[in-house]
Amino acid sequence: MKTLRDIELTGKRVLVRVDFNVPMNEAGEITDDLRIRTVLPTLRYLLEQKARVIVCTHMGRPKGQRVEKYSLAPAAAYLANLLGQPVPLAPDCIGPEVAAAVAALQDGQILMLENLRFHPEEEKNDPEFSRQLASVADVYVNDAFAVSHRAHASVVGVTLHVREKAAGFLLQKEVEYFHRSIDAPQRPLVAIVGGAKVSGKLEALRNMLGRVDKMIIGGAMANTFLKSQGYGVGASKVEDDLLTTADALLRQAREKNIKVYLPVDVIVADRFAPDAVCKQVTVQDIPDNWMALDIGPASVVCFNEVLADAKTIVWNGPMGAFEMDAFARGTMAMAHTVAASHALSVTGGGDSNAAIAQSGEADNISYMSTGGGAFLEMMEGKILPGVKALD
Ligand code: 3PG
Repeated sequence: MKTLRDIELTGKRVLVRVDFNVPMNEAGEITDDLRIRTVLPTLRYLLEQKARVIVCTHMGRPKGQRVEKYSLAPAAAYLANLLGQPVPLAPDCIGPEVAAAVAALQDGQILMLENLRFHPEEEKNDPEFSRQLASVADVYVNDAFAVSHRAHASVVGVTLHVREKAAGFLLQKEVEYFHRSIDAPQRPLVAIVGGAKVSGKLEALRNMLGRVDKMIIGGAMANTFLKSQGYGVGASKVEDDLLTTADALLRQAREKNIKVYLPVDVIVADRFAPDAVCKQVTVQDIPDNWMALDIGPASVVCFNEVLADAKTIVWNGPMGAFEMDAFARGTMAMAHTVAASHALSVTGGGDSNAAIAQSGEADNISYMSTGGGAFLEMMEGKILPGVKALD
């Protein structure tokens, strides 16, 4: 994989695919700018090298239609502010107006293209759309790790139509941290897996169980594992169709001598609401009609012990419904433990990153991946199509 430093960039038109699919509030303000800040090193380097920079990205899922709330105008303004130079927004991502805007670019100037997903051809990896995207550029740079699991035109198709292609600094860093944490980790490697559903993470669980020394399972997905081991989990969220699978995963782990740790106590609530009545119970004592919404303090002590000798920690998915204060303690406690550990710590997924930000520990985590689905696919052991296309 070529990187930016392998390419002569001065005066070249460089099309940079980024992932500015960032959360926004109802007023159209960006509420988490991790994905924007993390590509600044690439953009600044290109501008310093006096390239003519053309930034492209998707935002949301507008389904091939022009949808104003998914316009990149706020992102362009936000980027201009961070870079301290104008970032004009082209009215589209292909076509004569884009060609004219690119032709007017001077060395060291930057332009942003409008949302790629306003065209249905983007998600179809359409060859003609890919060719049109590429037609305005001499060099293509992928710095969009978070969308590199999608074989879309701006991620894969476009690479067939450019003279030179390279990975941006963010993509390089993501792949490097993944290598250090999962391919060739210092051991013991401990994975913490949480979040709502086992179903979305089955492949990741399977692959990780073949790689880790220990695994901690928390969050709502732990209910399915607990129930598969015969515990009554009351009204907790459970995927009943996956009970046999969960049991088989635990059995396979035992056979390989991989230790899997489930919560020993939980915070249960009489309903899913911030002001619900809650109490702390052992997993043997979850009352009927109550639901487990967080791990309890004994689980935190136990998980801290599991993490104590870790040299590498990979974390995906919160330990409970942390967006409600009453059920945030378990996740916050784990964030503090991971942050304080001497292990290389790598986290990924929107919820995990939001939880870490909420805990105030973002600076104490070795690496927070910008990937959600892409991070999960790496955990599944897949080679991402966007990364492969740079080869
Ligand atoms: C993400 O947010 O995970 C990426 O931007 C990909 O978005 P998508 O799931 O809509 O393809």
